[in-house]
Amino acid sequence: MSPSLGSTEALSLFSLSLACFGILANTLQGEGEPLIASIAFSGLAFSLCYALIRWLGNAFMRVGFKGRDMAKLKHVEIPETMGAVCALVYLFILMVFIPWPFYKDIVAATSGGGNRDVVQVLQQVETGRLLHKFPHSKLASYLSAILSIQCIVLLGIGDDLFDIRWRHKVLIPAVGAIPLLIVYFVDFGVTQMVVPIPLRPYLGELFDLGWLYYVYMALLSIFSSNSINILAGINGIEVGQSLVIALLIVFNDILYLSPFTPYPHPATDSHLFSLYLLLPFIGVSLALLMHNWYPAKVFVGDTYCYFAGMVFAVDGILGHFSKTLILLLLPQAFNFVYSAPQLFHIIPCPRHRLPHFNARTGLLECSRVEFKKPLPGPIAEVLKILHRFRLLDVETDETGQVVSSSNFTLINLWLVWFGPMREDRLASGLLVFQTVVGLLGLFIRHRMALLVFAQDNW
Ligand code: UD1
Ligand code: MG
Repeated sequence: MSPSLGSTEALSLFSLSLACFGILANTLQGEGEPLIASIAFSGLAFSLCYALIRWLGNAFMRVGFKGRDMAKLKHVEIPETMGAVCALVYLFILMVFIPWPFYKDIVAATSGGGNRDVVQVLQQVETGRLLHKFPHSKLASYLSAILSIQCIVLLGIGDDLFDIRWRHKVLIPAVGAIPLLIVYFVDFGVTQMVVPIPLRPYLGELFDLGWLYYVYMALLSIFSSNSINILAGINGIEVGQSLVIALLIVFNDILYLSPFTPYPHPATDSHLFSLYLLLPFIGVSLALLMHNWYPAKVFVGDTYCYFAGMVFAVDGILGHFSKTLILLLLPQAFNFVYSAPQLFHIIPCPRHRLPHFNARTGLLECSRVEFKKPLPGPIAEVLKILHRFRLLDVETDETGQVVSSSNFTLINLWLVWFGPMREDRLASGLLVFQTVVGLLGLFIRHRMALLVFAQDNW
């Protein structure tokens, strides 16, 4: 990868940035127009991230952030942990953006509603400015989102540096989620779940989960950040799946904004908030994907996987759509459940489970785990049954002993189903799958919800 930008690249990025600055300057003339400002900021995030990935690649390699691309003929070393660049640009943009969503409130509060002839009432004279009317709770949500994401980025960089043990790193997202949960508690505090109609005779209309709801949200942040990291290992898949999920959430958010729903709708504000967090994320991820797509010039690192997962968790919790989020993470959930035997060491788990590159054909095949010791009888039987249902590729010797099996990941399963293929086709296939499952999930969420719930919260 050349460390400097080509002239067309430089010119395009420069023009894009200039246009974005122009739009931003314009928003300050009106009421701040935060959504338009957020789009402009996302354009800036894209340009900045794209250029920085290029400029910093070699510097990252020098300090040891590098990895070998194992699915290529030559195992060339390329920069790793580029997710850290994304995350820092993202956090920087979120911070600079802070004044925009509150622009109207700040202007109204500091200038007497924009009308200097307004008569000052006594209380106003005592407290000075009208800032006590400022929506502090919204600002608190926004700041807690930044704090939680920062916490997870620290974990990610630590993991890329030191390969932190699995049992240690699962807890860090839960700690990172504490600011978020406190804000949820103070600001929203709803811990009830609407009970599906068939269960209502037993549980009533609403079921209060109480403190378990907070456990559920903490688990969600652990799950979403780790589940992306284990659906990984081929060029473009980590960023690709995150982009698909982000775009699907954006699509769902847009359904809640005018002209699709009349304003003011109770959910409009939380879905706007969700867009402010996601648009810059899409900007930085797109810049990364352009460098990480087959043949990859950089790796994203664990930092990116955790960062992306936490952005979704924060977005889903503060935007009050955590159950919809789970529908969009179904492929990740399947991969997690499917991986569980290896994750919990019931079946041996090699350090890497990414597909095997066949140097003769240039195609990827499923990677295998060899069983040096015979497996216990019941486990071997289960594996053979999974093989019969084409949910695994198991190899047995002449005595019927299981000697090896494909690794337990969705990526390998895809290769078991569709046969060997080139890396980019594999990644595209999985991304199409993610999109289709997500769209189906959203369809079920909004249409079928009426079958099990009395109303859709549209
Ligand atoms: C997780 C997976 C592991 C998988 C790895 C690949 C589990 C429990 N762990 O481990 O099975 O092999 O991700 O990311 O499921 N790499 C490539 N091509 C790519 C991306 C990565 O060859 O497109 C290789 C590079 O050598 C890179 C390394 O994978 O340096 C990164 O692995 P790392 O993220 O450290 O692995 P884990 O997240 O621990
Ligand atoms: Mg990883």
